[in-house]
Formats: sequence, C-alpha cells, structure tokens
Amino acid sequence: MDTSDIEGDLSSILLTEEQIHAKIAEVARQVEIDYAGREPLLVGVLKGAVMVMADFARELRIAAPMDWMAVSSYGSGTKSSGVVRILKDLDADLHGRDVIIVEDIIDSGLTLSWLLANLRGRGAASVEIFALLRKPEAAAVEVDVKYAGFDIPNEFVVGYGLDYAEKYRNLRAIGILAPHVYS
Ligand code: XMP
Ligand code: MG
Repeated sequence: MDTSDIEGDLSSILLTEEQIHAKIAEVARQVEIDYAGREPLLVGVLKGAVMVMADFARELRIAAPMDWMAVSSYGSGTKSSGVVRILKDLDADLHGRDVIIVEDIIDSGLTLSWLLANLRGRGAASVEIFALLRKPEAAAVEVDVKYAGFDIPNEFVVGYGLDYAEKYRNLRAIGILAPHVYS
C-alpha cells in the first residue's frame, strides 16, 4: 500500500520508497566490497526485517543465503528490557560463517546487543549488523552497527516491515504514526 491509502494515519512521511531503495543499494555496494570472495549469511529478524531482507538480498550481486530468527524481548509496554527469548531459531550452523544480521530498526539496542553476543557464541567467523533505521537512544548501548541506514528522530514509525499492532507492515514508505491512531 501507499501513503495515500492510509491518509490521516501518519503525521508525516519520513522516507519514501525511492529513498529506502537508494540507501539499500548504497549499503549493498559496500557489502559487496567488504565481503568479496566470501558468502555472507544474511540473518533476518522476523517479522520487521522482511522487507529490508527481500530488497537487500536481491540488490546484492554476491551469493548471500538467508536465514531467519524470531525473538521476543520481554519488557514493560513499548520498551524492550534486553531479556530476549528465541521463538524461532536459525536453521543454519554458524561455525565459521560470516554473518550479517539484517534488522529494520535499532531503538534501545538491547535486542541487537543480545543477538550479537548469542550469534558470536555459536562459533561464527564474524557477525556484523545492517540496521535500516537507527533511533537516537541506540547510542546509549554500545552496539557496533557496521551498516546503518538512516538516523531517525525518536518517534514511533511504521511501514516497510514496521508495524503498529501488525498493521502498516505492507506500506511501501516509512512514516511517523499519528498520535490519534494509538491514543
Ligand atoms: P530495541 O531492543 O533496539 O528494540 O529497543 C528494537 C525493536 O523494537 C521495535 N521498535 C519499533 N517498531 N516502530 C516499530 O514498528 C518503531 O518506531 C519502533 N521502535 C522500536 C522493533 O520491533 C525493533 O526490532
Ligand atoms: Mg523488529
């Protein structure tokens, strides 16, 4: 769907489909250089990373298999606590693999720092992160995001995989959710 299909639900459009695709292409060119001669395993975090993964994987001109994880972070309300539970684990054995975690957004950074430690503990040769969006709070936790797409304001955003109560994931663009939708 397009932003015109949900007129009124967004207080503003943050990133257009074109801007998102241009950024993903830019990151893909860098990853092709950094991983030349290797075959990185793309690990997507369900469900938010589905759109980033689909576009990023197809944009890459090197072989890059994909695998998926689903995690839930316990916390009060909308804040994650850093206590993470695996709902769906990877199929792949990570021994000796070069892993790139593909994420939609890094907010507090707690989920990704846990994931980073978990995957490194499985004997991967390397584990890096590509997060399409990064909120300012992410700076509070020391998470080394090698590939960061856009730094965005501390607002609740939806679209391009990001949801509010499972809605708006299929929006092509990314927008700031209007307060009347969740209040
Ligand atoms: P951390 O641990 O970095 O958690 O705080 C990141 C996860 O929180 C969710 N999240 C959002 N989801 N719009 C969303 O739809 C947002 O603005 C937003 N901020 C954080 C998301 O699931 C992400 O993986
Ligand atoms: Mg997510």
